[in-house]
Amino acid sequence: MREQLAELLEQGRSALMAADTADALQQARVALLGKKGSMTGIMKGMGRMTAEERPVIGALANKIKVELEALFEERAAIVQQQEMQQRLASERIDVTLPGRTHARGSKHPVTLVTEEICDIFASLGFGVEEGPEVEQDFYNFEALNMPKDHPARDMQDTFYINDDVVLRTHTSPVQIRAMLKHAPPVRVIAPGTVYRRDSDITHTPMFHQIEGFLVDRHITFGDLKGVLTTFITQFFGKNVGVRFRPSFFPFTEPSAEVDIQCVICGGSGCRVCKKSGWLEILGSGMIDPEVFKSVNYDSEKYSGFAFGMGIERIAMLKYGVNDLRLFFENDVRFLQQF
Ligand code: DAH
Repeated sequence: MREQLAELLEQGRSALMAADTADALQQARVALLGKKGSMTGIMKGMGRMTAEERPVIGALANKIKVELEALFEERAAIVQQQEMQQRLASERIDVTLPGRTHARGSKHPVTLVTEEICDIFASLGFGVEEGPEVEQDFYNFEALNMPKDHPARDMQDTFYINDDVVLRTHTSPVQIRAMLKHAPPVRVIAPGTVYRRDSDITHTPMFHQIEGFLVDRHITFGDLKGVLTTFITQFFGKNVGVRFRPSFFPFTEPSAEVDIQCVICGGSGCRVCKKSGWLEILGSGMIDPEVFKSVNYDSEKYSGFAFGMGIERIAMLKYGVNDLRLFFENDVRFLQQF
């Protein structure tokens, strides 16, 4: 047994020295000193020994065990160190590499323009109201002085849900809803999405408008001109020319369309303003007494003005965008510029 133990020590030494990973080292240790390992195998022979031999062999086995354990610990420390070095080398981080930043989103130009317009009107005392995009015929047409057989309905190609329900063709129905909700005096601005059966280079079936109106005692066309001129000069700049041109809308009388001097050519005439030097930016007028009738406002006591404008159109003029479709394609290279 002495020889067996001496051999175990030799074999164990070389096995432990040969193991060069923590796993291999652990396996070698189990093979030598584990419950089913070589040492246990040898010690099974103890039963056949004399009483004198047994303690001597026991002490020797113990010594060898301690020696192998020590060697194991020593190797384990070295192997661990090596593995650490290897990991440090292979997992090296280059701290000089530029970091990966998160792309920051930006507001859509339609949102930016909507917010800016609402802010200007808020500073003039207007409050923001909203209405539904799926709208009843009554609010979209009827109450705005456009009964079912009214020819003015042809001006707006309507998406009908059924005979009495439409996708709103303009934000003007919010006027009716707001007037039914609030007694005068009222000052309301109403941004929102609108829909028309129209699709070409300058029209999309879905677009955005901002409606506004003001009702109080003694409101005149002069108030309309003052408020809209203030808005336009704040939005487009002090030096932009403004003109009011007679027009027609069923819900206002008199009505006016408002033009600004072409922001592209400064008024000398170009492709964008079709050589006229002017760009139409909104419709407006004094609220028709018929409209007041449908919301039970007393037109003997109150008067008011209203206006509506297309947001994409205003955004195109403000930012010099020449294609309406860019607003709906969601190309980040376009959107990031705002
Ligand atoms: N609703 C009109 C349109 O979509 C725009 C408009 C014109 C609104 C005159 C108004 C207004 O409030 O007074 O074309």
